[in-house]
Amino acid sequence: MSVSRDASYVSRSVQWGALRGMRKLETEEQMTPEYRQTALKLVYALASTEFASVEQHQPWINQGPTAEDRFVQAQICADEAHQGMEDYRLLCQFGPEGEALARDLLQRRRGQHLLEAFNLPFDSWVDLCMFCCTMDLVAWYHLKALENSSFAPLARAMTAMVPEERFHASFGANRVRRLLEDPDYAAACGATRADVEAALRKWYPRALDTFGSSQSRFSAAAVEFGIRRWGNEELRQMYLADINPLLESMGLTPPPPDWDRHIL
Ligand SMILES: [Fe+2]
Ligand SMILES: [Fe+2]
Repeated sequence: MSVSRDASYVSRSVQWGALRGMRKLETEEQMTPEYRQTALKLVYALASTEFASVEQHQPWINQGPTAEDRFVQAQICADEAHQGMEDYRLLCQFGPEGEALARDLLQRRRGQHLLEAFNLPFDSWVDLCMFCCTMDLVAWYHLKALENSSFAPLARAMTAMVPEERFHASFGANRVRRLLEDPDYAAACGATRADVEAALRKWYPRALDTFGSSQSRFSAAAVEFGIRRWGNEELRQMYLADINPLLESMGLTPPPPDWDRHIL
């Protein structure tokens, strides 16, 4: 299925899955135990990536080679902090269990985050640009799948979060292209083509891992409950159909999709 890049429209009723046509869920009191556990787990995992992202980007706010690079890094940090705060508030709607999970996330530091890609530091400006190009596009697909979610507060949060993530991914793609095509920019970054290719090999398999296991029962339940639009494997295939032509248009060769993968 093709993915629209239009601004989202939030409906009052559930749009897909077993609850289709029902009024969307606003509070945990309206949820079955299975729905509640699925929504809670999903928001917890999402929130983890936002707080971890701020930790990854923060040291780089004033390191970019241009003034605009520095401004965009500050904006990305602000966006990720905003997304973390939105997710934090969503977690706190789940009573003491959600509040405990929200507090748990504030304690975690690099090496303790849920997903591998968010435990890795950026080694250079080139590395950061490739993270935005590959990983923020993953994040955009994850958030697109939550647009119009059956959990109404999550659907409303997506109206702001989806465009933020698109901005991060576009910044990454623009900067990777410029590193390859503008010798002055590459020199200002102290970067070579080999550095760009090494960064691609670092982030590409981690980006594919971040969609999760293709056999995940949790992923299937999230789609069935209308919380998420697409499952892990479907999202991963949509991403591959998007990122590979993008990389090839820059003269880069994406690794095979199963290369150096840790989650299949
Ligand atoms: Fe994010
Ligand atoms: Fe992002």
